[in-house]
Amino acid sequence: MCVLQKIPTGLPPGPVTWHPLQAREARWARLGQVPVIAWLTGLSGAGKSTLAVEADRILVAGGRHSAVLDGDNLRHGLNADLAFSPEDRAENVRRTAEVARLMAESGAVVIVSLISPYRADRALARRIAGDIPFLEVFVDTPLGLCEARDPKGLYRLARAGRIPGFTGISAPYEAPEQPDLTITTEGRSTDACARALGARLMRLSRAAEAAKPRG
Ligand code: ADX
Repeated sequence: MCVLQKIPTGLPPGPVTWHPLQAREARWARLGQVPVIAWLTGLSGAGKSTLAVEADRILVAGGRHSAVLDGDNLRHGLNADLAFSPEDRAENVRRTAEVARLMAESGAVVIVSLISPYRADRALARRIAGDIPFLEVFVDTPLGLCEARDPKGLYRLARAGRIPGFTGISAPYEAPEQPDLTITTEGRSTDACARALGARLMRLSRAAEAAKPRG
């Protein structure tokens, strides 16, 4: 029997024990799907949120239980106390990955949309996902195009020095070295990009996938 897997923290045993829960596979079988976490990383304005929402529509239309965890939205609640220092961004990723993991354990296809600029933080997110299939998706849009789009007017403010530590301008973005999926948005429609992601997630969350090797 497979139950919610304890996430290895590397911490010495403390006064809090781990309580075994109902087998998650029973819940997944009821739902008729298996979970996946798609972790969308890329610059601000790369199109992550738009893609996440469109892929989520495809999944729901295809009968999947899915959800989006959007960086901007989470920063209004769960992560409202965090700013944009490297430490706060790491914590932003850690918390979001923990939530994604819990939602995935319940059977959902979870689409995370977070700049998550540091490779080490994204590697932690993958570790937190444990045995839940984790797809690192690089939303690859050149800085020049993100800046030209500037949907929130933030690049202009960052160039004017009014937002310190802005990703791509005055703070680093470490592109994935071996992403599971790269979505190049330049010259492609949102629809085409979302279909590529949606189709991949539909396939990975098919109930029969549980029995096959994941990839
Ligand atoms: S992350 O780097 O910690 O992963 P997250 O995805 O949560 O970032 O939030 C990014 C959003 O915050 C951007 O889309 C932008 O709207 C806003 N933002 C505000 N300040 C900054 C900054 N210094 N760097 C990047 N994004 C910022």
